[in-house]
Amino acid sequence: MSDKKENLVSCVVNGKSVTVSKNTSIIKAFKAAGEDIAHYCYHPGLSVAGCCRLCMVEIEGNPRTQIACNTMVAEGMKITNQSEKIKEDVQWGLDFHLLNHPLDCPICDQAGECGLQEQYMKFGQYEPEMNQNKVKKNKVVSLGEKIVLDTERCILCSRCVRFTDEVSKTHELGIFNRGDRSEVGTFNGKELNNDYALNTVDICPVGALTSKDFRFKQRVWYLKRAEAICTGCSTGCSIYLDYNDEGFFRVMPKPNENNNSYWMCDEGRDLYQHLNPKKRLVQVCPSQSINASSSEEAVQGLKTTLENITDKTKVGVLVTGQYSVEDYQAFFSSIKEKTSIEKVYHWFDQKNSENDFDDLLIRGDKNPNTKGLLSVTKDLSLNLVDSLELKNTASHLDVLIVLGPEYNKFFSTLDEKIAMFKKAGQVFYFSSVKLEALDALSNVTQIPLPSLVERGGTYINYKGLEQKVAILPKVISGILNFSEIAKVLRGEKVQLEPVFLKTQKVKDNQFNFQKK
Ligand code: SF4
Ligand code: SF4
Ligand code: FES
Repeated sequence: MSDKKENLVSCVVNGKSVTVSKNTSIIKAFKAAGEDIAHYCYHPGLSVAGCCRLCMVEIEGNPRTQIACNTMVAEGMKITNQSEKIKEDVQWGLDFHLLNHPLDCPICDQAGECGLQEQYMKFGQYEPEMNQNKVKKNKVVSLGEKIVLDTERCILCSRCVRFTDEVSKTHELGIFNRGDRSEVGTFNGKELNNDYALNTVDICPVGALTSKDFRFKQRVWYLKRAEAICTGCSTGCSIYLDYNDEGFFRVMPKPNENNNSYWMCDEGRDLYQHLNPKKRLVQVCPSQSINASSSEEAVQGLKTTLENITDKTKVGVLVTGQYSVEDYQAFFSSIKEKTSIEKVYHWFDQKNSENDFDDLLIRGDKNPNTKGLLSVTKDLSLNLVDSLELKNTASHLDVLIVLGPEYNKFFSTLDEKIAMFKKAGQVFYFSSVKLEALDALSNVTQIPLPSLVERGGTYINYKGLEQKVAILPKVISGILNFSEIAKVLRGEKVQLEPVFLKTQKVKDNQFNFQKK
């Protein structure tokens, strides 16, 4: 801890000594001590509401129990949530929250990651004493394009309302009515469609808010979790990717104090779709001159083509900032061995400028690794120039090698680039995602690449933060990664890995939503 001694306080939490900064809440001290504490309304990325009354603690010398989220630690405090009194308080609190909560667990999409289930199993486990009829509320309320609300599952923790007030600052949500008729809703029919709306689903501790895209596709206990980064813009938010052997199903933000805090934007959540076969370039699309049926044959075609070109000024390379540092190193080194590249055209020209920023996370540069690309090309003494130059030079090129976008929808200049491809001799287009418009071009050989998580590697975001992506097994057979491409270009043999997907079909969500 780097804080000066006078800024620290020490206390005892469930018998464990812990030192924290002054003005730290007791709930944070519990977390620092690694002690469990019941809570719903508290979220580290939001203001304190103190409304669920579950985080009860006893402080030695204080006759009344207190809520830990809104009580600050003082020097020498002895705090516990293990006493019989606190256990009784928490059980009453849970009983109260469950009073009108439906018995939906078997059909609830949140089951398996529900705060209510978890808290009950940790702190509840009692015989309920309430026997009144439950208040019935609306179960399928569409809040907009992305989110559906089950009003009777809501425990009124107000996290979602605070998120729209404090983080997205879009103020769509409120709590309406009083007493046991209280419910979350939107103001004047305003829809919850802001760029960050799906974070409310992540932070809803129960199954009240669910994502229309994800709900009913998978039970969460059948999913594995990998860590990666979002490649939708140069922020490179830390993410979790949920998947199994039927495919990738969901992206959620991974808390990262140094980058995205607890959040990510909604567009970034589409990343999982770009990893599944439906959006992928799954096989080589041959051109008139390269009649290849496999990636290996297509790269051999590139090797032969490069060897036959005597005037090396007629070879061009066009790259996006979508690939990892290791990918660029392997790619450029192998291309440099085959030919002398004078210029590398940098495909950066999106409709937004590099400096555009929405003051939360979304940046104008839609490349996760522009900094990595600049660094590798500098190290290899390559001259990186604006791809707009291709307008003048494309027709002089015999060969144009392209590392295309992985997230086509963010690249507004695709049509302009496709017009340039038409002017070049042969184009070798590498990408992991399918770009339908290229099928009409007879001079373009499309060669599939592994996706972000099949390649892994290091990405450097807009502020120079280096983040590693681990490698997951491939979902599509017969594709070469950059080091395998380099081997084929050197004339070496490659051994391809088996795939792990059971099926190439990922279920679509067929559920219909009607606004109340
Ligand atoms: S919808 Fe979820 S996050 Fe919002 S108040 Fe209800 S329980 Fe809390
Ligand atoms: S802000 Fe950028 S990096 Fe973060 S989730 Fe959105 S698109 Fe992805
Ligand atoms: S977490 Fe403290 S009152 Fe809800």
